[in-house]
Amino acid sequence: MNRNVVYEKLERCLACVRRRTEFVPRVAIVLGSGLGDYAESIRVETEIPYAEIEGFPVSTVPGHAGRFVFGWVGAVPVVCMKGRVHFYEGYDVSDVVLPIRLMKLLGAEILFLTNAAGGINPSFHAGDLMLIRDHISVFAPNPLIGENLDALGTRFPDMSSVYDPALGEKIKEKAAENGISLQEGVYAKLTGPSYETPAEIRMLGRLGCDAVGMSTAVEAIAANHCGMRVCGVSCISNLAAGLSDAPLDHREVQEAADRSASRFRTLVTEAVQAFV
Ligand code: HPA
Repeated sequence: MNRNVVYEKLERCLACVRRRTEFVPRVAIVLGSGLGDYAESIRVETEIPYAEIEGFPVSTVPGHAGRFVFGWVGAVPVVCMKGRVHFYEGYDVSDVVLPIRLMKLLGAEILFLTNAAGGINPSFHAGDLMLIRDHISVFAPNPLIGENLDALGTRFPDMSSVYDPALGEKIKEKAAENGISLQEGVYAKLTGPSYETPAEIRMLGRLGCDAVGMSTAVEAIAANHCGMRVCGVSCISNLAAGLSDAPLDHREVQEAADRSASRFRTLVTEAVQAFV
């Protein structure tokens, strides 16, 4: 897709949302696999199913049924993505990051990414929450490939601090205040949809990765490109391949998310209010 097609689609989506709501969010929250229930804890102003936004990418994965939820976390106006699309579903990577750019154009200055991830760091357990300090995304296509969208950001954006350290500190503070133990680490993004082999996990561990997943990093890159402040938390749903005897199963994602749901809710709610 060339620049105009990508940007024009974004503008069409923006116009479509603006016909439905004038709500201006400050914080955008992407709810990862199994974590969509968080949307129930925000004071809802309005909801827009993705399928009702012309050209918007709609997920095919069970449990990812998608909609934007506009509302309030305390006094903070937010837009929540309940469900997202993944590159492995066959979308162009520009479509995978379209929702992020759209939330920026709707007014969001801060992006809070969440996901399910496999734990690589040997001290991690299923159900742990991990603050994303940095990522490795070289195994997946870069979402900025193609003609640069100058209206959004620069051709060669700096990525030396994708995850805003000040937002990370606030998340850590809120975790500590609420007695929530929080791991920290580097998230590796692979395309999926197959899980990794044990050899791939050993490789990622040697490269300094603490967790692995199939989302998030491309969204963080696109958000950084368009000037959003980014932070992220992974829910460790399983030990990565080869680190336990059990074969990997997508059902673990929901089970681990359910176990961490109350910690996750507290952490996101408290952190979002501390951001602004
Ligand atoms: N690998 C990749 N993605 C994942 C995993 C995993 O082990 N767990 C949840 N998402």
